[in-house]
Amino acid sequence: MSIEDQSPKARARALLAQMSLDEKCGQVRQYFCFGTAAEAVGPLAAEARKMEIALATGTVGSLLFVSKASQTNALQRQHLEASRLKIPLLFGFDVIHGFRTIFPTPIAIAASFDPALVEASQAVAAREARAVGIHWTFAPMVDICRDARWGRIVEGPGEDPFLGAVMAAAQVRGFQGTTLDDQHVLAGPKHFAGYGASLGGRDYDEVNLSDYELHNVYLPPFKAAIDAGARNLMTAYMPLNGVPATGNRHLLTTILREHWGFDGFVVSDANAAINLVAHGFSASPVEAAVSALEAGLDLEMTTGTSAYEHLAQAVVDGLIDEALLDQAVLRILEAKLELGLFEAPFVDEEAAEAVLATPAHRDLARTAAERSAVLLRNEDALLPLTPAIRRVAVLGPLADAPRDCLGPWVFEQDLSETVTIRAGIAAAAPAGVTVDYAPGVAMPMRQHPWPFGRMHERDDRSDWADFDEAAGLARAVELARQADVAVLVLGERYDMSGEIASCSTLDLAGRQMELLDAVAATGTPVVLLLMSGRPLDLRRAGTLADAILQLWHGGTRAGEAAGRLLWGAVSPGGKLPFSWPRHVGQVPLIYGHTRSHSPEGQTRRYWDETSTPLYPFGFGLSYGAFAVTDLTVIPTAGAGAEVSVTVTNTGIHAGDEVVQLYVGQASGSSARPVRELKGFQRIHLAPGARQRVTFQLDATALSHWNDARKDWVVDRVARTVWVGSDSQAGLSARIPG
Ligand code: BGC
Repeated sequence: MSIEDQSPKARARALLAQMSLDEKCGQVRQYFCFGTAAEAVGPLAAEARKMEIALATGTVGSLLFVSKASQTNALQRQHLEASRLKIPLLFGFDVIHGFRTIFPTPIAIAASFDPALVEASQAVAAREARAVGIHWTFAPMVDICRDARWGRIVEGPGEDPFLGAVMAAAQVRGFQGTTLDDQHVLAGPKHFAGYGASLGGRDYDEVNLSDYELHNVYLPPFKAAIDAGARNLMTAYMPLNGVPATGNRHLLTTILREHWGFDGFVVSDANAAINLVAHGFSASPVEAAVSALEAGLDLEMTTGTSAYEHLAQAVVDGLIDEALLDQAVLRILEAKLELGLFEAPFVDEEAAEAVLATPAHRDLARTAAERSAVLLRNEDALLPLTPAIRRVAVLGPLADAPRDCLGPWVFEQDLSETVTIRAGIAAAAPAGVTVDYAPGVAMPMRQHPWPFGRMHERDDRSDWADFDEAAGLARAVELARQADVAVLVLGERYDMSGEIASCSTLDLAGRQMELLDAVAATGTPVVLLLMSGRPLDLRRAGTLADAILQLWHGGTRAGEAAGRLLWGAVSPGGKLPFSWPRHVGQVPLIYGHTRSHSPEGQTRRYWDETSTPLYPFGFGLSYGAFAVTDLTVIPTAGAGAEVSVTVTNTGIHAGDEVVQLYVGQASGSSARPVRELKGFQRIHLAPGARQRVTFQLDATALSHWNDARKDWVVDRVARTVWVGSDSQAGLSARIPG
């Protein structure tokens, strides 16, 4: 058998047997690439020099943040020339919601409740990234988040473990495909685990979770991603119950490997291994290296100082068993072999350009933005706009802001092909309709905490410094007065959510409320288009706007989608992936709370505000109107059931409904949430059309992790199922125990 015919495991073992200790220690290092030492400036130049030395000595396993085909080829060539055993570099990158074609942010696309769309979007992202030589994405981000102050809520699936698990698996399938061929990349679910539950919603702060909550809420999306075949996983920065996640053996070995059987490789979040010292967990960099490797960390991602640069000495000094290092190296080599890098380490630079320019990718981005939008309010059926509308005033600081359409974590965008909301509305307007535009007020800028800005994230910031506030507001009001409808585009700049973008309030930043007030005072009907990565405080805005459409940061074709949604070429059909709080003081807020001893007081937990959400989880209107009727439940073996309903579009417009199935048990071995999402289907119905929708509930769906037994259990008790349009669905039936 030739060497190429052997399994990746066998080939990896054969390579390992020939590797020196230094070569092994190089394989477990990943460097940030800030360009060549000649190109890089300031402190980055020193970083670049380190990387160049590692490349010249063939002692590095992986680089991140290289994003041009010419660069991946050049670096790979340089490295292979120096690598004694010709072990290719693995290039990783944050391909979070698109590479060149930008899709809606993960929270947005979770709102599509459309896993096939999510899979297709990430398949496009993978194709584009792989074309330039990227082999691996630091995605999907699957952290459940129940506190909208946390900026990274924008990167994940929202509050619900079931929705989170479905979206996690869909993304892994999209990134990796069925084989890791040259159209696909490795997927790395992150950040393991519990990161979304940081104290006070403050990024990086500690997380304290009971096992009960960890297993029932935070781990299911990770498990789903692993079961879908994810070949990598990234650790989290913060301590979980006192033990930093990157030195947490319980997480990285007991749960991940022993319970779940994961055999891919684990990467640290940036500098998370050396930061075991900063956490006050390890006494020295050497100790950090030993703790991380013993916990189960394979590859260390770093800028600056490293823990794993001390591994060779730790082995020599007998502080760590070399077999553990061997195991980590094997896992990394296997990934490179599975990807076919030894056979094809380079990419075709011309072909890459063609892939990045594919029109079909942009079309999918438009569809994704359309299907992610959530209609929150539509008084007197103001939307879709009718032919009676002859003049539209598109107003607001985000109306013509291409960079803000894209959201955080984009690096290779082309703003010239990004369609802004203003442009999209104008393009979709029927002939003869006048579309005016004024920003009204400036968008406040936020300071960036990182020394180099968001490293490598292309800012392209629109500069509001010279904006004439008084004249700007007056102009917007004047246009609103002349218009038949005022469309206000408000919300958050692209960098107001994301990493280190936690927020102590959910208010509309700057003078945006003032603009809304002034425009509403003209008496012209108001459509509020919201661009944001998190729910904002809409208590007052909701009384001023006749219609509210949550557009999120919709990506390259956000504006086109907005235009088509507004003029009714398509109907909004997305649903909220979180409970939308009324007020920041309510967070964390979830629909799946337990009953407590006082269920009847559930809506009155505060004396100064109701404790219900402004809009419930799963909520979203359509231009169609849907009736869900005829619920039947047929018990199946093993406590499961087949649940079906009839859905009828009783409205005058075609549209989509996301039919949602919730289950709850009123007794059992734990006091369980009042209800939990256990199924959903997004269907399209023409006016008057109806469809029977069926869900299968099996034992897995009905199980929960029981803290006393430290295991998953299915209580043999009666349950209630609810089926309907959101988490407050009233149509219910019983499954006998
Ligand atoms: C983030 C990760 C990201 C990494 C590399 C970290 O700061 O937490 O999510 O993948 O940087 O960019």
